[in-house]
Amino acid sequence: MSRVLVVVPTYDERENIERIIGRVRASVPDAHLLVVDDGSPDGTGKIADELADGDDHIHVLHRTAKAGLGAAYIAGFGWGLDQGYDVLVEMDADGSHAPEQLPRLLAALDRADLVLGSRYVPGGSVVNWPRSRELISRGGNLYTRLALGLRLRDATGGYRAFRREVLERIDYAGVASQGYCFQVDLARRALDAGFRVVEVPITFVERERGESKMSSEIVREAFTRVTQWGVRHRADQLRGLVRGRR
Ligand code: GDD
Ligand code: MN
Repeated sequence: MSRVLVVVPTYDERENIERIIGRVRASVPDAHLLVVDDGSPDGTGKIADELADGDDHIHVLHRTAKAGLGAAYIAGFGWGLDQGYDVLVEMDADGSHAPEQLPRLLAALDRADLVLGSRYVPGGSVVNWPRSRELISRGGNLYTRLALGLRLRDATGGYRAFRREVLERIDYAGVASQGYCFQVDLARRALDAGFRVVEVPITFVERERGESKMSSEIVREAFTRVTQWGVRHRADQLRGLVRGRR
């Protein structure tokens, strides 16, 4: 039985934190949880501490300032690897990633090194998203596929399970950037390193409480970076072709 750590980044999730922790504990009782809180002004970190006091499967990492989803995961992964966990999971705190579907992600790890919870494979879906948000997400994924040649339907999603070996190999701490882009970069690094990446369907349900931290700045950053990577990727391909001809 491998040791599983579910990493949950939080910023102002007071209304969600207790519920999500309870659902994870009920769905996968053996798994441990690490809340990575960026000094939430609304007291999320304190609530997490209280929950951790009464349960040895719950851990909390406090950071001093809001530094983005990517930085929170990098800190959480570092902690989890140091503690010797075999599997590290990414999960949002707002209920969009159903803990009840985690067993399905973990089960897929026996044929994969990285499992992506995917909204855009058959059986996957998004519930309660405004049309505009779905368009950004679908457009972003299409663009990523075309620019980078990644054969993934949902490269921007944030519900994932990593074997520790993947994180040990891909220099995850060198992954720059925030929301979508952080996720795309992790996926492509894993593929480039030759790891087996599979997508399993999930139902993503938009949060009912609290506010999204996704901003137009994060969307812009993703677009710019993916374009840069895409140009480089296509240039490499071209060089390979030319070399092949000679
Ligand atoms: N510690 C920390 N610091 N946590 C953060 C920060 C931060 O700066 N910003 C966001 N979070 C936490 C939130 O509290 C939540 O638990 C999780 O990260 C996701 O944040 P949301 O604001 O709910 O993101 P979203 O729903 O718009 O985006 C989700 O879907 C995207 C794909 O559509 C995330 O899963 C993204 O990773 C994903 O790319
Ligand atoms: Mn959300």
